Amino acid sequence: MKTKPALTLLAAVILSAGTPILAADKDSPSTAPSLKTVFKDSFLVGVAINENQFSGKDARGLPIVQSHFNSITPENILKWEAVHPEPNRYNFDPADRFVAFGETNGMTIIGHTLVWHNQTPPWVFRNDKGELVDRDTLLNRMREHIHTVVGRYKGRIKGWDVVNEAVYPDGSIRATNHWYHIIGDDFIAKAFQFAHEADPQAELYYNDFALEDKPKRDGVIRIIKQLQAQKIPIHGIGSQMHARLDWPSIQAVEEHITALAALGLKVMITELDIDVLPEARQYRGTNLTENAKLNTELNIYPKGLPAAVETEFTKRYADFFRVFRKHADKIDRVTFWCVTDADSWLNYWPVTPRVNYPLLFDREGNPKLAFEAVMKVAQPTAKNK
Ligand code: GLA
Repeated sequence: MKTKPALTLLAAVILSAGTPILAADKDSPSTAPSLKTVFKDSFLVGVAINENQFSGKDARGLPIVQSHFNSITPENILKWEAVHPEPNRYNFDPADRFVAFGETNGMTIIGHTLVWHNQTPPWVFRNDKGELVDRDTLLNRMREHIHTVVGRYKGRIKGWDVVNEAVYPDGSIRATNHWYHIIGDDFIAKAFQFAHEADPQAELYYNDFALEDKPKRDGVIRIIKQLQAQKIPIHGIGSQMHARLDWPSIQAVEEHITALAALGLKVMITELDIDVLPEARQYRGTNLTENAKLNTELNIYPKGLPAAVETEFTKRYADFFRVFRKHADKIDRVTFWCVTDADSWLNYWPVTPRVNYPLLFDREGNPKLAFEAVMKVAQPTAKNK
């Protein structure tokens, strides 16, 4: 009987679309359908989590994380400003608990991120007089930070986003980045070298957004080829994939996976979400509670997503996962950026506050239609049997 297992799985998935999925998973963790189990032969399914989730305070999010994901990335607590807020002060308590949570739950733990132009405190780049420091001083600070943070979790954090977002949309290196203009071209190579010294077994990744756009991707590929030519240890490339309903095309997604895999590196989708609201970058930083007109234009679904948009959103997720599954030989991990719609940064960026719907679980933690669609992608089709 070839059709029976597929039908049984389908029935279970649909049952899980109400609310009992968490209870069902808890009662029967090995058999209940979940993202991590249905894609277990394809790739890891990860999620970015916050402190409320790994400390157990978020009773809605915690069981979703435990049921559906086998990899975790910290949304914020390992960023420089959080873990090393002052020159001689590290704040390891949240990171220690994050790593312990991942170990307790048998998850693949990802470190995010070591060298980035954002969420890095100003003191890193300046001396006591407020002037920019010289190359050697910044390299020493970078080395000390990486050795301390990566060294602390040696053998426990499996892979690190070593450098985040170093390239502009046209493929050139981000020239306004203090790391680049103080240290120079080799700041990326140095970051990878220091991370390798701190934990020679750790996987080291370059992570960036909009790699589906060819000019930017080509710039990143050029930099990675230079690192490879210099024998700098780099093991993977993270494509953030902060998507929209109209970007990127499915063809572009497929092309970027193939192009990145051709570097001989592990490819990871590291920050997946789908923004359904109007593009608002030109109003960046605006507080919509102070601007009623903009609020009407930009916060267009405050009471729920219209069915037609939900259908489009659901199809987008299914299309993405069909491509991921087709290229599962190249993809190591697909990580969502946050657990439920309520947790997403897209409610606050680039304007705040909005009601966005970018993920597979709604504000109450219930699986959405897109969840069911993604789960179905994992089922063998009649053709595959
Ligand atoms: C970038 C970073 C993430 C996160 C997201 C949005 O993509 O890599 O750490 O800050 O932006 O929140």
